[in-house]
Amino acid sequence: MQKAGPIAVFDSGYGGLTVLKEIISKLPQYDYLYLGDNARAPYGNRSFDTVYHYTLQSVQWFFDQGCSLVILACNTASAKALRTIQQNDLPRIAPGKRVLGVIRPTAEVIGTYSETKNVGILATNGTVASDSYPIEIAKFYPDINVYQEACPMWVPLVENNEHLSNGAEYFVKKNLQNIFEKGETIDVLLLACTHYPLLKEKIEEYLPVGVKLLSQGEIVAESLADYQQRHPELEILCSKSGTRQFFTTDSTEDFDNHAAIFFGEQVESKHAVVETPTN
Ligand code: DGL
Repeated sequence: MQKAGPIAVFDSGYGGLTVLKEIISKLPQYDYLYLGDNARAPYGNRSFDTVYHYTLQSVQWFFDQGCSLVILACNTASAKALRTIQQNDLPRIAPGKRVLGVIRPTAEVIGTYSETKNVGILATNGTVASDSYPIEIAKFYPDINVYQEACPMWVPLVENNEHLSNGAEYFVKKNLQNIFEKGETIDVLLLACTHYPLLKEKIEEYLPVGVKLLSQGEIVAESLADYQQRHPELEILCSKSGTRQFFTTDSTEDFDNHAAIFFGEQVESKHAVVETPTN
């Protein structure tokens, strides 16, 4: 019989820590293993193929560590890699294991927040180009109009700890202006990149009155709790000793210095090597 292991949480870098924080607060009993592929981040401007290969390698790394459930806490990886991994790779490499993303759980609930039926998606180039949000939201809320705006400067600003600077202000203002020009009656704006919650303070300064700003952490945590209830066969494979481990593909010193801003507390990471070929 398969041994229980930690729940895996993946991001291209630090952004997934904002999701992990909310998952832990909702489901503290489980063990968690976080991997940031910092050496190859950001993923936002990379091709479908590259993001798919990097993500698959990371998923395989989690499986090698004994994880049975992997959460891609990265919109770009969820948009560009999840479907192929679920449909083509999992049945072949690990039929009893599961990989989940952050787009579907968000699409499932976003309509409940909007009265005007106009929602705005702020995301990386990759997520916007994939059209994953308009496609997924249409499945649950066919009457909702979805407007998208790529904000390619936001992740670098956050990664470089410049999210409270005047530089950040310039780009936040510009991207918000753009999205409200596209959809004047937007009343829900989704931060569809797990890095963006750090810009929340700046975004709120330029947010028109009455517009709700949504981040994904709590939505994903809620959806995971529900998933665990509906899938006892998977839940039993998630160990419950309340441990948290952090891995990065880059410098552990850099990771530990930055991670606290995203996670809200100091962490001590270890180095991971994930570039092993998977085929
Ligand atoms: N945090 C990731 C997301 O949710 C993207 C950051 C990146 O560009 O690597 O999309």
